[in-house]
Amino acid sequence: MKVDVLLGLQWGDEGKGKVVDVLTPRYDIVARFQGGPNAGHTLEFEGKKYVLRSIPSGIFQSGQINVIGNGVVLDPVLFAEEAKALEASGNKLTDVLKISKKAHLIMPTHRLLDAANEKAKGKGKIGTTGKGIGPTYTDKISRNGLRVGDILSDDFNAKYSAAKERHLEQLHALGADPDTEALAENERKWMDALDYMRTFELIDSEHFINKVLNAGKSVLCEGAQGTMLDVDFGSYPFVTSSNTVCAGACTGLGVAPRKIGEVFGIFKAYCTRVGSGPFPTELFDETGKTIRDLGHEYGAVTGRERRCGWIDLVALRYAIMVNGVTQLIMMKSDVLDGFDEIKACTAYDIDGTVTRDFPYTIDDEKVKPVYVSLPGWKTDMTKMKSEAEFPQKFVDYIKFLEQELETPITIVSIGPDRKQTIERTH
Ligand code: GDP
Ligand code: IMO
Ligand code: MG
Repeated sequence: MKVDVLLGLQWGDEGKGKVVDVLTPRYDIVARFQGGPNAGHTLEFEGKKYVLRSIPSGIFQSGQINVIGNGVVLDPVLFAEEAKALEASGNKLTDVLKISKKAHLIMPTHRLLDAANEKAKGKGKIGTTGKGIGPTYTDKISRNGLRVGDILSDDFNAKYSAAKERHLEQLHALGADPDTEALAENERKWMDALDYMRTFELIDSEHFINKVLNAGKSVLCEGAQGTMLDVDFGSYPFVTSSNTVCAGACTGLGVAPRKIGEVFGIFKAYCTRVGSGPFPTELFDETGKTIRDLGHEYGAVTGRERRCGWIDLVALRYAIMVNGVTQLIMMKSDVLDGFDEIKACTAYDIDGTVTRDFPYTIDDEKVKPVYVSLPGWKTDMTKMKSEAEFPQKFVDYIKFLEQELETPITIVSIGPDRKQTIERTH
């Protein structure tokens, strides 16, 4: 009986998809527990690149069942596009992908509400992915949502119409004037996509997962977004609308807390953020631009430029604490392979007081990062096969991080490909 959780410790895009794919052969089930098509999880192997949004990243290995859990919000149109593209490239999905009946549906009007909410916020906008995530979770919490299981019931169309009418009133109140023809077209596509979704096994995923656990099988839970985007612990209000932390795996799949084993916390050797909101270690200079260029830091979903900066150990320590991380996975250190100097923020100076504890707010104006400077290793590590090949300065960098974070770094990723992954044995 084993449930491990892999989740992001920063502002998303840490490389979760790549590592879930690498770890999948060790598990029987891979399950997404929150978020929706705001996620973009990139996998590269055998010269091909795939971006997954709603489908778990265990889908390319063979033999595992992939589950979209109750904590996820699903856009049928985007789901169908993603699934059909995978099927077209030779992956048979219906046998290996199951969807929770309790997952909530993103409606076309949720996307309109997402856009209208952002517009109403003006300069204070969140910079959402525009996928309707916030409005869908809002409906869930206010007990107005439509769930995947509803598409099997006779009164689904009536439920849909009532929800749509409510959304149209909300849009009206926000001063939005939806294009009725475009909406009708989107609704038609949405209903067609539901027909496609009905060809999948729609399950009571909490029963499914607990039964397989009782049968001695193992589950890997795949997080989306990152801890700094968590609705409770992230840089509120510049966050997403779900619990991205480890506890989200319990509520998003129906797994009891005592069944959680390893918690893999994944982070980049630097830091990025997309959308608005505070980012204390953000770099606005050439170094930031270099990281963006070398790391190809552009959104997998929206193509937006990712903001880049140095690693923030204050935020990472906090993320490790709230998630109970047992093992760290460091990604994209290869991006820093050519750097003379690498900086790490070890504390914040807030109005003259230095703290190592993550504060209530990280309002950029007040929070000044305190940096430690480390020498770069100046070695191309992208073709290395084992930790025995690591240059000494890189080993020292890892040791420094492990001391600061009081958690072992057990996997190091040195490139986007599945094979560019090195396990450390210590
Ligand atoms: P996710 O949302 O956490 O799955 O991450 P994304 O897929 O959005 O962003 C990670 C990006 O970095 C993708 O383009 C990956 O292909 C790429 N990537 C992952 N690991 C590495 C690595 O170790 N080195 C480099 N250079 N790129 C990586
Ligand atoms: P993965 O899983 C990076 C950000 C958006 C925005 C905020 C709220 O690929 O790491 P939302 O659409 O969720 O309401 O947007 O959250 N955001 C992400 N940033 N990676 C993601 O997912 C993200 N999902 C949402 O940019 O700032
Ligand atoms: Mg991503």
